[in-house]
Amino acid sequence: MDVYEAVTSRRAVRGFTDRPVPREVLERVLSAAAWAPSGSNLQPWRTYVLTGGPLAELKKRAGKRVVAGDPWDEREYEMYPPVLKSPYRERRSRFGKERYSALGVSREDWEARQRAASDNWQAFGAPAALFCYIDRDLGRPQWADVGMYLQTVMLLLRAEGLHSCPQMAWSVYRKTVAEILSPPDELILFCGMSIGFEDVTVDYVRTGRAPLDETVTFIEGPVLQSHAE
Ligand SMILES: Cc1cc2nc3c(=O)[nH]c(=O)nc-3n(C[C@H](O)[C@H](O)[C@H](O)COP(=O)(O)O)c2cc1C
Repeated sequence: MDVYEAVTSRRAVRGFTDRPVPREVLERVLSAAAWAPSGSNLQPWRTYVLTGGPLAELKKRAGKRVVAGDPWDEREYEMYPPVLKSPYRERRSRFGKERYSALGVSREDWEARQRAASDNWQAFGAPAALFCYIDRDLGRPQWADVGMYLQTVMLLLRAEGLHSCPQMAWSVYRKTVAEILSPPDELILFCGMSIGFEDVTVDYVRTGRAPLDETVTFIEGPVLQSHAE
C-alpha cells in the first residue's frame, strides 16, 4: 500500500469484528513504528498491547464502571482547554454533528450519546488494543513525539489491512487500565488504541478537514540575488 493510500484510508474506525489480530502482525507493526522520529531519539513512548483474556477483563471492569455511573478518575492531563476558542470550537462541534448523525442520534438525546460514547470502553468490539504511556517528567515536545509514533502505528496497521481508533477516552478510566497493566508510577496514560478488522456493517460519516489555506501558509517569491559591491 502506498503512503498516500495509507494516510487517506486511515480513519477512526468505531466498529470491529472479533477476528483476532495475529501477534506476529502486531510485532511487525510495532517494530517498524519504532523507527518514528523523536527529538534526540528519546523514543518517549511506552506501549502495552492487550488481547485475549486480559483485554476482555479490562472491558468487563470498565463496563461495570460505566453502568455504575462511576466518576471518572482524576485527570493527569487535560484533553482540551476548558474553553475552546474559534476555530477549534466550531471544528469540534462539526465533528460532534457528523459523528452523531451517522449514528442517527440527535444532539438533544444525551442518553443515546452517552451510550455511543460508552462503546469506547468496549474498545468498539476490537480484539486488540494498545495503551500508550509517557514518562510524567517529559515535556510537550516528547508528547508530540508520541503523537508521531502513534500515527506511524496507525499507518502501518493500514498496510496490514487493519484499522484502528486512537482513544483518549481510556484516560478517564486510567486506574482500571492500570489494574490490568500495572505500569510503573512514573508513567502517564496518554491514550489507548483499538485495533482490528473493520466491521463494515457499522455506518460512519467520513470526517472532513479544514481547507488547506486555513491551516497552511505558503510564503514564497523569487530567490533574492545578493549584490556584490
Ligand atoms: C489523540 C487522539 C485521541 C482520540 N480519542 C478518541 C476517543 O477517545 N474516542 C473516539 O471515538 N475517537 C477518538 N479520536 C479520534 C478522533 O475523533 C478522529 O481522529 C477525528 O475526529 C478525525 O477523524 P478520522 O480519524 O476518522 O479522520 C482521537 C484521536 C486522536 C488523534
